Amino acid sequence: MRHLMSPLDFSVEELDQLLDLANDIEKHPEKYAHACDGKKLATLFYEPSTRTRLSFEAAMMNLGGNIFGFSSAASSSAAKGESVSDTIRMISCYADICAMRHPKEGAPMVASAVSSIPVINAGDGGHQHPTQTLTDLLTIRSLKGRLNHLVIGLCGDLKFGRTVHSLVRALARYENVTFVFISPEELKIPSYIKEDVLESSHIPYKEVERIEDVMPVLDILYMTRVQRERFFNEEDYVRLKNFYILNNKKMKLAKEDMIVMHPLPRVNEISVEVDKDPRAAYFRQVQYGVYVRMALILTLLEVKVC
Ligand code: NCD
Repeated sequence: MRHLMSPLDFSVEELDQLLDLANDIEKHPEKYAHACDGKKLATLFYEPSTRTRLSFEAAMMNLGGNIFGFSSAASSSAAKGESVSDTIRMISCYADICAMRHPKEGAPMVASAVSSIPVINAGDGGHQHPTQTLTDLLTIRSLKGRLNHLVIGLCGDLKFGRTVHSLVRALARYENVTFVFISPEELKIPSYIKEDVLESSHIPYKEVERIEDVMPVLDILYMTRVQRERFFNEEDYVRLKNFYILNNKKMKLAKEDMIVMHPLPRVNEISVEVDKDPRAAYFRQVQYGVYVRMALILTLLEVKVC
C-alpha cells in the first residue's frame, strides 16, 4: 500500500504516468465515471481549505465514489483531545482512502504509519503540499509542453509557503530548470531548501526583491499569498501583505508566452485586472487539480481503467 507524503514519493517516470493518466481523464472523462463505484474517500481537514478539499471531493465523485469527512478540527474529536493516530485507525474502518490536512508538520506522516488505507498529505503546516505540486506540474506540462528547460520565478511568501517548498523539490529533478526566488528579506526561501535541494545538486537559482527586474526572463511566474496564519505577530503580516501586487503594468514586462500561476486563495498579490490576460493560468490550474487528484486516487487504489 502506498501513501503520498511528498511529491518525491513518486519517481519522475511514475509522475509522467500519473500526468498522462490525468490528461487521459481530461480527454475522456466518461471512461472513468464508474471507476470507483462503491469506494469511499474520507477528507480529514484540521485546517481551513476550499479548493483542496472540494477538489478531492469532486475528484472522487467524478470517479463514481462516495465522500465524507470533516472540514475543521473543531468539528472533529480532535476538539475532545483525540490523537491523529487514533482518528486514522478508526477512519481506516470506514473509508478506502483518505486525504488529510493538518496545521502541524508531519501529522499526515504520523497517520500513515498506523493507517491501513492510503493517506494523502493535503498540506501539513508550512512543510509540504504534494497534491498542489501534482496540480502545478500538470498545469505546466499541459500549458508549456514540458517540465524541463524552464525559468520559474516564485514570488511572495517563500518562507512559509508549503506549495513553494514542494514545487521546488519536484522541479529540481528536471533538466535545466532555473529558479528565481522573489521575496522580501523576511520571507526568503528557507536555507535548508537552498542547501539540500538546490546547491547539493548544482541547480542554478537567484534571489531578488524586485519583481520588475526579473520579469522579462521568466517562463513561469508562481505567485503566492503571504501566509497570515503562520505569522507570529499581526504587525509583521500587515507590513508585508501588500509587498507584491502583480498588475497589467508589470505584466507588460513579461514574455508573450509566460504563464502566471497561483495555488489560490489570492488576497491582493494579483490584481483582478490580470485575470483577463491570456497568460493568467490560475483558474485553469484549479481544473487541472481535479484531473490530477482523480489520477492520484486511481493510482493509490490501484484501479485500472482500460
Ligand atoms: C495553498 C495551501 O493551502 O497551502 N492553498 C491551496 O491548497 N490551494 C496556498 C495558500 O493557502 O496560500
